[in-house]
Amino acid sequence: MKIEQTIAGLRAARRALPGTVGLVPTMGALHDGHLSLVRLAKAHCDHVVATIFVNPTQFAANEDFGKYPRTLEADSALLEAEGVELLFAPDAAEMYPPSASPAATTQVLVGPVGDRLDGVSRPGHFIGVATVVAKLFHIVAPDKAFFGQKDAAQLAVLRQMVRDLNFNLELVVGPIVREPDGLAMSSRNRYLSPKERRQALVLSRALEAAQGAYEIGSRQADGLIGIARTSLATEAGVRVDYVELVEADTLLPAATARPGTLLAIAAWVGTTRLIDNWLI
Ligand code: PAJ
Repeated sequence: MKIEQTIAGLRAARRALPGTVGLVPTMGALHDGHLSLVRLAKAHCDHVVATIFVNPTQFAANEDFGKYPRTLEADSALLEAEGVELLFAPDAAEMYPPSASPAATTQVLVGPVGDRLDGVSRPGHFIGVATVVAKLFHIVAPDKAFFGQKDAAQLAVLRQMVRDLNFNLELVVGPIVREPDGLAMSSRNRYLSPKERRQALVLSRALEAAQGAYEIGSRQADGLIGIARTSLATEAGVRVDYVELVEADTLLPAATARPGTLLAIAAWVGTTRLIDNWLI
C-alpha cells in the first residue's frame, strides 16, 4: 500500500490506477465499521483509496480535536490487510493553507439540512464536513465514495452536496456495524470507561425498544420518541442531546414512522458524545 501525504503525490498515484476507484474517507482510529466500507468499496470498484485526516474544521473549539485518537501506524496495517492500494494521510497544512484562517477560505454551505440533528448542537460542523469531503472528492476523483449509515445526518448533507454541486460520482452507503452487544462502533468508544461502556448500551437498547413498538403497529412520532426517551432515562449517567424522528433525506421532522424515516439519537455518556440511529 502506498501512503501519500501530499495532494500532488496522491493525484499522481491515483492517475496511475487503471479502472474504477472507490474512496473511503475517514478520520482514522479505524474499527470494523470503517473496514466494512473498505470491503464494500472493494466489491464495487477495481481499486480502493482510503483517506485518514482528522479534519480540524469540523470540530468546535470546545470539542475533542486535540484528544481525537491518532493511530496512523495501526490504521495503515489494517488498511493494507484489507487490500487498500493507496492511503492519503495529509497533515492540516497540506489541506488548509496555514496562512489563511478557515473563515477566510472557500466553504461549502449545504443549506438548512446542515443545521438539523447534529448541526443544532454542533453549529458549523457540517460546513467543515462538506468542505473537507468536497476537497477530498476533487483530490481523489473517485467513481464511487463510501459512507456509513452510522452518521445519518452527515449522509443527508453529503447527498445534497453531491446533487447540488454536480459531483460526478456515486455515494454508496454501508450499514451500521455494531459490537456483539449492540453498541455502534465508533472511534469515540475508546474514550469510554468500563462503566460508561456499559451505560452506552442504552442507545442501541432505546432504538430496539422503538423498533419493537413499530413492529407491533406503533407509528406516531411522539409515541416512538417517548419510548426511546424512556429507555434512555434508565441510565442516570446518560444525558440526551436529541431523539428525533425525521425524513432521512431532508432531516425534517416526520409525524409518523414509515420506510425512509430515521429515528436518530445523540447522547452524552459522561463527557463522550455518541450517536446512533435506526433507518426504517
Ligand atoms: P469517521 O468518523 O472516521 O468515519 C468515517 C466513515 O466511517 C463515515 O462514513 C462513517 O459513517 C463510517 N462509520 C463510522 N462508524 C461506523 C459504523 N459503526 N458502521 C458503519 N460505518 C461507520 O465521518 C467521518 O469520519 C468524517 O466526518 C469524514 C467523512 C471523514 C470527513 O472528515
